[in-house]
Amino acid sequence: MRMVDLIIKKRNGKSLNKEEIAFWINGYTRGEIPDYQSSAMCMAILFKGMSEEEVVNLTDSMVHSGEVLDLSILKGVKVDKHSTGGVGDKTSLILGPMVAACGATFAKLSGRGLSHTGGTLDKLESIPGLTVEIEGHRFIEQVNEIGIAIAGQTQSLVPADKKLYALRDVTGTVESIPLIASSIMSKKLAAGTDTILLDVNVGNGAFMKDINEARTLAKLMVKIGHNLSRDTRAVLSNMNEPLGLAIGNALEVKEAIEALRGKGPSDLMELCYTCGSLILLQAHLDDNLEDARKKLEKVIEDGSAFSLFIKMVEAQGGDIDYILNPNKFVLAKNIIPVKAQKDGYIKEINALEIGLASMLLGGGRTKIEDTIDMAAGIVLNKKVGDIVKENETLCYLHTNKKLDEIKQIIIDVQKAFVISKDFVPKPKVILEVIE
Ligand code: URA
Repeated sequence: MRMVDLIIKKRNGKSLNKEEIAFWINGYTRGEIPDYQSSAMCMAILFKGMSEEEVVNLTDSMVHSGEVLDLSILKGVKVDKHSTGGVGDKTSLILGPMVAACGATFAKLSGRGLSHTGGTLDKLESIPGLTVEIEGHRFIEQVNEIGIAIAGQTQSLVPADKKLYALRDVTGTVESIPLIASSIMSKKLAAGTDTILLDVNVGNGAFMKDINEARTLAKLMVKIGHNLSRDTRAVLSNMNEPLGLAIGNALEVKEAIEALRGKGPSDLMELCYTCGSLILLQAHLDDNLEDARKKLEKVIEDGSAFSLFIKMVEAQGGDIDYILNPNKFVLAKNIIPVKAQKDGYIKEINALEIGLASMLLGGGRTKIEDTIDMAAGIVLNKKVGDIVKENETLCYLHTNKKLDEIKQIIIDVQKAFVISKDFVPKPKVILEVIE
């Protein structure tokens, strides 16, 4: 087999078979197929697409390019949840303890922040002492002991995706639905859980800006999961405004603690209850969504989800004083209110602009080697649909940067809030469920 023939075949719109896809992925992972040929293949896939069968075969080859975790010695149904990336999305920190408190086994491997979107690992690391680098056997022990662990992916998991993702990033081939679906699903499948719940974010702050594209991606990922024998379901959720009120690592952990204490913002809680109910069905802990939701409400009310979060933080070496008393988290030196310039209803809070602003305030990386300022970020005082008066605070910027360094950010954040004279209804957070 020659790689050039496979590129030409795909370029001409033909389907690649299982052996041909495996030849490409294995050869590329081992370094026998060069970047320029893989890059040409990705571009051909971007233009010509792939059939469902091809995407399943591509995902399967990627899964087997490295280590595949065996979680079979863990008790119970192992559940996982993945969000395609949004702004203010701290769902895993709340949802994990909630479903684990209801009896599911939450063994999650998470990622770091990408561009304007935050990552669960960075958020967790804002808790002093906490580590996300847990050795395989310790990860299993922790999940067996308390039912939950959130750790970083090991280097040996899906090496094909590590190479391909970096290549796609610099060759204009990220935005291909077959390539995104196989990239996400290969990592989820290699992580070895029994079930996968996907939260596909849709809107200006998300990867998928358009609901039709998001639906196509979600359906394809659900099909890949089913074909490779995993119970996979998806929700499409609104990312046209940030989720909840807090954006930024320690700020989001504080909001997650509030949520676990029963005082979470309504959009964030709605997403957690919907995803959580689906996960309890996947784990066979319930057979209808209403009862599942009641169970989840109960573990928030009685504090058992919060207790489990504390146990997880403790097991991963974190200082639980910060969880019991979130005022211990050090605040940024400057907390700057951004004011409304007119009366009206909040029509839009551009999540992309807010995510970028939070990153530039110090809350994210602009280069891989950047260190994150855990205290930096933005706290919204208004959400879409709220009434606002001229000069009222729209949000607070938290930063350790000097004021003259962030003048443009203040202007950009002000522009991210669109205010209308006409009534604006509260947007729905759950757009669709795909099973
Ligand atoms: N997230 C991934 O892991 N891969 C993609 O291709 C896009 C988002």
